[in-house]
Formats: sequence, structure tokens, C-alpha cells
Amino acid sequence: MMEERLITSLRQPEDLAAEMLRPTRLAEYIGQDKVRENLAVFIRAALSRGEALDHVLLFGPPGLGKTTLAGIVAAELGVNMRTTAGPAIERPGDLAALLTALEERDVLFIDEIHRLSRTAEEVLYAAMEDNCLDIMIGKGPSARSIRLSLSPFTLIGATTRAGMLSSPLRDRFGVNCRLEFYPPEDLARIVRRTARILRLPLTEEGAEEIACRSRGTPRVANRLLKRIRDYALDWGRAEVDRATAAEALERLDVDRRGFDYLDQKVLRAIMEKFDGGPVGLETLAAMAGEEADTLEDVVEPFLLQQGFIMRTPRGRVATTEAYRYFGLEAPGREEARRDEARAPGLFDENGSV
Ligand code: ADE
Repeated sequence: MMEERLITSLRQPEDLAAEMLRPTRLAEYIGQDKVRENLAVFIRAALSRGEALDHVLLFGPPGLGKTTLAGIVAAELGVNMRTTAGPAIERPGDLAALLTALEERDVLFIDEIHRLSRTAEEVLYAAMEDNCLDIMIGKGPSARSIRLSLSPFTLIGATTRAGMLSSPLRDRFGVNCRLEFYPPEDLARIVRRTARILRLPLTEEGAEEIACRSRGTPRVANRLLKRIRDYALDWGRAEVDRATAAEALERLDVDRRGFDYLDQKVLRAIMEKFDGGPVGLETLAAMAGEEADTLEDVVEPFLLQQGFIMRTPRGRVATTEAYRYFGLEAPGREEARRDEARAPGLFDENGSV
């Protein structure tokens, strides 16, 4: 088992070097066609009216390009972007400092916006709606509130789950973009682009192999590509072809569907320890030795999207597909077979009794 989860889609320090891999304009951005086309329209309209773009909420699992898209929007608008994150804003004053420093039509990007404090969130309401800032000066009976006006600006908020935002905040975003997991074709284009930038010879099949094993996530695909590049160098391979990619991924404990040890541990736990479920998130998290939030934000969305688990009000359930993949017998099927053996001919040809 690996110490660190290589295919984590959470941002890692080494991803800072990945800055050079990020696309900077909309035309370079691959995939998420609907989001890209919609944003292109709203950006063109804002530019032609000479106004700030309406506030944008980007949501979806980590690693799908929310920060990248925010940077692209600012670049397309031809304005500066200031970046912060929900947990970094400790007091409303921190937010006030950021907002008052913005110039006309600038972008303020707040990552993990669902983790803003209640008081900071309230400062945002007036800023987003009326371009103003209500601040309290003084203390006690002489305290009073003064209103500062702000330059028109665009707030871009990013969150892993839109459902975690309070509704007053959610309602103040005029543009909502849901990012989806990338299909393998798009991921293959992304790793080919990255390989070109890294000057790494990568065959068509090599790109496909990585694409199919990257959990639908560009951040994971690019990270895997870099590790495979290390193996290729070590093994004296002139290029990364399918066999090199597959061998390296094997070493990295990434299986043929892109599941890593944590995905496998979670899936196996549901099937082998909890009889296929339903099992509660907290129980699963304790079993896997992970935070419940990590399971919910990072592990679960991909397993759900792949149809390996389902969410029910009573907990998570493993699907028949999951049993098939691991070569295990689904409990329901065994029962059904027994029933069939006990009562042959109970059903007519149309399946009704
Ligand atoms: N690198 C990471 N995500 C990307 C995307 N969506 N398009 C192009 N390059 C990327």
C-alpha cells in the first residue's frame, strides 16, 4: 500500500509546477463543452456591453479545472484576478481588504467558497448585489456602520458541492457551471497536450491507457503522466507507449479502471464487510481510515459516476457492476438463483406471475 495517495485529486505542492501546464485561454481548454460554450457567450456579451461579467459559481469534484477556468475567464475579460480560499478568510475585514483592492471589472476568485465563515458570507451579499461594503467602525454605543462603494467586479466561487452553499449565497450567482468528469477521449487530448509541453514522446495508445485510468480527472492524468515519465526514464524507454504506461500504472497501484487502493478498499469494505450495504459514510470512513469529507468529495463521486456504488437514504450500496468487477458473487443474485431453483416455472414468458 502506498503512503500517499498518488491519484488524489486534491491539489499537491508539486502541482505548483503544473502552473505551466494550465491552459490560459478558452480556445486551449479541452472538454466541458457546455460550460466552455456558455462562458464564451457570457464573456463576449459582458465585453461588448463594457460591463463586469455576472458572478460565476463553478462546482464539481476536485481536479476538474475550476481554478484553471477562473483564470481563463479573467484572461478572456482582460482583467486581473485575485485569488483566495474560504478557509483563508478569517475575519470579514480580510474580505473587505480584498474587495476594496479590486479594480473595475476585476475577478475575485474564492476557492472552497462553502467554507467561508457566516460573517464573511454576509459581507459578500451586499458586495455581490449592490457593489457596496457595509463596515462597522467603533465599538459599543458609538459604533456605526458606514457604506463604501466598490468597483463593479466579478466574483468566481468554486466548490466541490453546490449543495453545501447557503441559499442566499447561491442565489447571488448569475452564472452556474457544473463541471463533469472528463470522458477518456478528452483526457487523452489533455495528456497529449501535456506531453507536448514536457517534450515527452507519448504514443496514441499510451495516451489512451493513461486516459482510461485517470478517474475522469485532468489533475490525476497529468500527475500520472509525470510519474510514468519517471519510470520510462528509469527503464530506458524512448517513448511512453501502452505497455510502458500499463507497467508503470501497475507499479503505482492504479488498476485498469483507474481505481487506486483507497477506491478498492472502500468498494471491498462495502461488499465484504457490510454485505453490499447499505453502510453509512462515517462507518465507511472509519473503516478506510479516511476523513468522511475526503470520501464524500473525492472518492465517492467517481464511484457513483462509474455505477459502482449507489447512495440510498440508509447509506452506500455496492452495485452488481462492482461485484462483477471484483469477481465476487452479489448476495441478491445468489438468493434469486436459489428462489428460481425452488420455484421453476412460476413466471410465464412475459415475466409476470
Ligand atoms: N489541463 C488540465 N485541464 C485541462 C483542460 N481542461 N484542457 C486543457 N488542458 C488541461
